[in-house]
Amino acid sequence: MKRYKDLAGDGGSDIVGQVQGQQARLRERLAGVSTIVAVVSGKGGVGKSSLTANLANCFALDGSRVGVLDADLNGPTMAKILGVRGRALAVGAAGVTPPTSALGIKVMSMDLLLPSDATPLTWDAPTQDEAHTWRGTMEVNALREFLADTAWGPLDLLLIDLPPGTDRLATVTGLVPTLGGTVIVTIPSDVSHLVVRKSITVAAARAPVLGLVENMAGMFRGPAGADLAREAGVPFLGSVPFDPELALAADRGEAFVATAPTRESARALMDISRAIRASLTATRG
Ligand SMILES: Nc1ncnc2c1ncn2[C@@H]1O[C@H](COP(=O)(O)OP(=O)(O)OP(=O)(O)O)[C@@H](O)[C@H]1O
Ligand SMILES: [Mg+2]
Repeated sequence: MKRYKDLAGDGGSDIVGQVQGQQARLRERLAGVSTIVAVVSGKGGVGKSSLTANLANCFALDGSRVGVLDADLNGPTMAKILGVRGRALAVGAAGVTPPTSALGIKVMSMDLLLPSDATPLTWDAPTQDEAHTWRGTMEVNALREFLADTAWGPLDLLLIDLPPGTDRLATVTGLVPTLGGTVIVTIPSDVSHLVVRKSITVAAARAPVLGLVENMAGMFRGPAGADLAREAGVPFLGSVPFDPELALAADRGEAFVATAPTRESARALMDISRAIRASLTATRG
């Protein structure tokens, strides 16, 4: 089998040059972004996207300039949760200007690009088997394009919402100049802890782990997130109670922490965002 290095040329497409140009643009774009934080979990459905959106709102309420990149290309939910679904992307000479949520959060998501609700993203490849192999490469390319073309402007914080699977973190760490840290999410179940324990190991090898968040606390009796954090040697950032109001607010695209600030779950989220802020300051030294 021939490998890339065996090929005589690229047919004049200068693919390497194109990627290098895009990577240079990406660095320029991100030069105005102070800190990038990824929200990760090996486990699906534990509330990564909800936490990303709520943390973005918390930081915005505390006066930060915040952007959110939805890195879940085939299950994008950030535009919906942050209430910017259906808003057009403004494309100009300076790049793509992301829509802004009620609290001023800039949101970039595949959801803003796909023509309809029912259209999944498919990776072109000669066979379905190859499509699986291509997926990783295509994901990197799509995210690189997002990051190279989005005019975020100056941001204090860019939060990245990843699809489930800690291996997806590698895609992001390979693209951005520096990842300020990761926030890892679990729910209080043995099944989740089993997977998230591995996620912590993988994440710690790539960037500072700012801490573990336990979401949906109290929904059922299960192992404590604080214990998992202690065993894994990472900070415990706090527990967000299971709260149907939080889920309803997400479905309505409302900034829950602003519209229901006195609820226990909203207060927990504000506390967690401040713990993250403190952790970021400490990590920066
Ligand atoms: N603390 C909570 N209380 C009640 N409902 C919650 C809570 N956190 C999240 N949810 C709800 O649980 C569902 C799954 O959450 P979410 O989509 O944020 O998870 P996810 O980890 O991003 O999922 P995926 O792995 O598919 O990306 C959503 O309907 C959300 O509104
Ligand atoms: Mg999600």
